[in-house]
Amino acid sequence: MVNLSATFQNHTFANPLMNASGVHCYTTTQLDELLASSAGTLVTKSATMAYRQGNPKPRYRSLALGSINSMGLPNEGLPYYLDYVLAKQTQADVPTLFLSVAGISMQEDLDMLAQVDQSDFNGFTELNLSCPNVPGKPQVAYDFEATEKMLDSAFKLFHKPLGVKLPPYFDLAQFDIVAKILNQYPLAYINTINSVGNGLYIDVDSETVAIKPKGGFGGLGGAYVLPTALANVHAFRQRLNDSIAIIGTGGVQTGADVFAHILAGADLVQVGTQLAKDGPDVFARLTQELSDVMAQKDYHNLSDFKNNLKEL
Ligand code: DOR
Repeated sequence: MVNLSATFQNHTFANPLMNASGVHCYTTTQLDELLASSAGTLVTKSATMAYRQGNPKPRYRSLALGSINSMGLPNEGLPYYLDYVLAKQTQADVPTLFLSVAGISMQEDLDMLAQVDQSDFNGFTELNLSCPNVPGKPQVAYDFEATEKMLDSAFKLFHKPLGVKLPPYFDLAQFDIVAKILNQYPLAYINTINSVGNGLYIDVDSETVAIKPKGGFGGLGGAYVLPTALANVHAFRQRLNDSIAIIGTGGVQTGADVFAHILAGADLVQVGTQLAKDGPDVFARLTQELSDVMAQKDYHNLSDFKNNLKEL
């Protein structure tokens, strides 16, 4: 018998799967649909302090090999998502929830963290340091000094379990530097990766880009990014303190892809592009496929293969 239950810090989820922030998590209706699905838990859309319209449309395009987006953090504002998780966490059968925040400035991040800290929220808070789509705002986590300053300030005022959403890194020296910074803090987890920022999809027939904001530049997801996501999960698992858990995000289309994320060291696995394509039913398929892969290999628990990737 295969048991998909996933331990994450001292919490247990029915299985390791959840949505990636930004996909199917803008409204309470979508969030309720995730709760009703086979996902182990959910994360809310990255919130700013107040409602934000985001970038002009079209701002998301599904592609043969994945997706490109430049949403620009459209969201209902922190109170909307905080009210949702506060209401749900009192209900039986609701797993521990994840609340994502992404301020446009460091001060906005700190103000939101202070608000969450003072609330009764008892789940995980995720600080998104990697949105590639706000015109004129670089991704914080590519600026190592700014990242350290942000975490210094965050941990002075925030006392609940905190994770950070990271952008993909591409050089082993970057993993060394970032892991050294992260290991200084009592982080609950990292979530790796956000979309691969500022890709450019070109439709040759019409000689145009695929999305309107930023002249067509946008974050890539889906099959395009799976090997990059796996590399980031594995490189960080090799460098981070054991006390810091890892959520692997990027490129999951099948149960085998979920298996690969866990083999690379992920504790939980998020699904973005494929969830946008298939809707919340994707979690029933992925949990079944993951069970099938495990059964075939005679693995009974995630711990039988987690972080057991073999080298040649
Ligand atoms: O790809 C992304 N799109 N990553 C984020 O962090 C935010 C989102 C958006 O709203 O643009």
